[in-house]
Amino acid sequence: LARGGLEQDLAGRHVVVSAGGTREPLDPVRFLGNRSSGKQGYALAATAVARGARVTLLSANVELPAPAGADVVRVSTALQLREAALKAAVDADVVVMAAAVADFRPAEYAGGKIKKVDGVDPAPVALVRNPDILAELSAQRQRGGQLVVGFAAETDDVLANGRAKLTRKGCDLLVVNEVGESRGFGLDTNAAVVLSADGTEVHIADGPKEDLADAVWDQVAARLP
Ligand code: CTP
Ligand code: CA
Repeated sequence: LARGGLEQDLAGRHVVVSAGGTREPLDPVRFLGNRSSGKQGYALAATAVARGARVTLLSANVELPAPAGADVVRVSTALQLREAALKAAVDADVVVMAAAVADFRPAEYAGGKIKKVDGVDPAPVALVRNPDILAELSAQRQRGGQLVVGFAAETDDVLANGRAKLTRKGCDLLVVNEVGESRGFGLDTNAAVVLSADGTEVHIADGPKEDLADAVWDQVAARLP
């Protein structure tokens, strides 16, 4: 049954949603990570199921119960997420990149635990860039009419930053969150602006992440061929 009497406007559609945050290993016991809880991505998956979609949820290090009815693919690193996203996108109508992807990963992985040595300073951690999955998905759409959606957390000039990022990534929609001390990460509510490549700007008031998810699906459904 659809939430709030929504119609099954995603019926027959395959949607791919990434959620959580990638972890980039330094050694078998340590990683570089981020604070993404996965709540927004999981809400997107659950609401898409409710609207009739077949949902593939690419879940990166999320400790939440799997949304009923979604096909969950677990990944950890950005490179694993990239592989899973490109594969799932092949027959997808929509791909939503809600995951926080690490921009960098350690240049080297130590196969054994890194040990401290008395009197010796630690070596600096060299980093390399991770591929930009969203830009890649946008540039090589696996399918005509496929919609690609990104998420961005911004501070300062949120709208200008968001508009520039939308153009740079080449995606169809960019959901921009304003982040600050008490907003965004780990919370149950979210306010956002949905920017589109066709120039629209839809403001979504602070509310449950399910409401933001439904507002995003509204924008997606209106643009599906
Ligand atoms: N993203 C991605 N691959 C990356 C980095 C980001 O697919 N290597 C996606 C995220 O999932 C999100 C969008 O790009 O949907 C925006 O992420 P963001 O970190 O805001 O963008 P960046 O280009 O990394 O810009 P910044 O330098 O502000 O972090
Ligand atoms: Ca980034």
